[in-house]
Order: sequence, then structure tokens, then C-alpha cells
Amino acid sequence: MTIISPSILSADFSRIAEEIRALEAGGADAIHYDVMDNHFVPNLTFGFKFVEDAMKGSSLPADVHLMISNPAASLDKWLALKPAALTFHLEAEPDAAPLIARIKAAGVRAFLSIKPATPVAALAPFLAGLDGVLLMLVEPGFGGQAMLPETVAKIGQLRAMAPALEIQIDGGIKKDNYRDLVALGASNLVIGSGIFAYSDYAAAIAEFRK
Ligand code: DX5
Ligand code: ZN
Repeated sequence: MTIISPSILSADFSRIAEEIRALEAGGADAIHYDVMDNHFVPNLTFGFKFVEDAMKGSSLPADVHLMISNPAASLDKWLALKPAALTFHLEAEPDAAPLIARIKAAGVRAFLSIKPATPVAALAPFLAGLDGVLLMLVEPGFGGQAMLPETVAKIGQLRAMAPALEIQIDGGIKKDNYRDLVALGASNLVIGSGIFAYSDYAAAIAEFRK
């Protein structure tokens, strides 16, 4: 069963509680929060309090994707929010094992993400300790970008390395391309503009379950 994780990056932040309720009512499996620091990526989104408040409005698992430099420095503050899953980037912390251990010790699912240019082989030393991997199919920083075709092969490569791993993919996933990505081994789809471009989120989410 493929997990559908809508990214609120493309939501109307002035109505965030309503937006999240609509995603939940529409059949989302989790809510994906894209945290950006205008340093690791050239965009700035939201911080601890926004995520904490947004989480109050939904019983869905919160999936926090940190696109930030030096994730070790703020990790405890993110863990204090008790998300279901916390993702950081290998490019931001090459010494990933201690952070993975801290996330798991807090009872949170640990995910490691790589950008398009980082090969899946770089994940190998960490796979045994992870609950999942987030493969970026676009350069992180903005919603609404087209998927980079050269990233697609990484899904199958990672699936071959880790047959039981949760493989989350993020960026440019649309109703006309998700089937091929799932066939390659993706098990969790992060979708932003592919849902928010439609007024009826339930109908949009249903498209990804066909
Ligand atoms: C991009 C974020 C994504 C983004 C996906 O840096 O990590 O989660 O919101 O948006 P779409 O689905 O529009 O590519
Ligand atoms: Zn994301």
C-alpha cells in the first residue's frame, strides 16, 4: 500500500488548519512539513511554532523534512514536537549515524534524504539504522518544479539495496508519472502542487491511489 504524504508547502498558510483538515478528510496518510532555512536551500518556510500549531489540528502522522544546515543544532527542538518521522539531509550532516540514533532514541522514525546529485551508494552505511530514505527528485527548495529525469533510476537502485526499506520520493510527482515511480520501488509519495493545484483535495488524492 503506497503512503500518500501531501506537502503543505503549496498550501495557503493563512488557512493552514483548514487546509490540513481538508487533506485529512481527503484521505491523506500523513502531513509533510518542508522546513527550509534559506541557507541549505535558497528559500525560507516555517519553524518550530508553526509546525507545532499546525500539528494540533490533525491526528495524521507529521512527517518533518528538514532542509537546513547543521541539523544537529536544532534536532532536539524538532524532536520535542514528537513528529512521527524526522528527515534530515546527508549533505547537511555527513556524520549521520549519531543523529539517526538521537531521532530513534526519541521514539521518532528516522529518515535520511539525499539531493539529486548524491548517489544512493552514499546511503549504504546508514541503511540498517533507518526507518526510511527520502529521495529528492528535484533540487530541494521549491514546490512546483518538474521532476529531474536522471533521479528516477535512483529509486530502483535503492530498492535493490534495501528490499524492505520505506522509500519516500519528493518533487514533481503528478498523477501522470507516479505509477512508474511506484513500480520502481517507491512506497511513500510526497506530493505538493500535484494536490494543491486542484480545489478538490479528496479527488486529487484519489487519483494517486488508482
Ligand atoms: C521541495 C520539497 C517538496 C515540495 C514538493 O523542496 O521538499 O516537499 O513541496 O512539491 P511538488 O510536489 O510541488 O514538487
Ligand atoms: Zn519535502
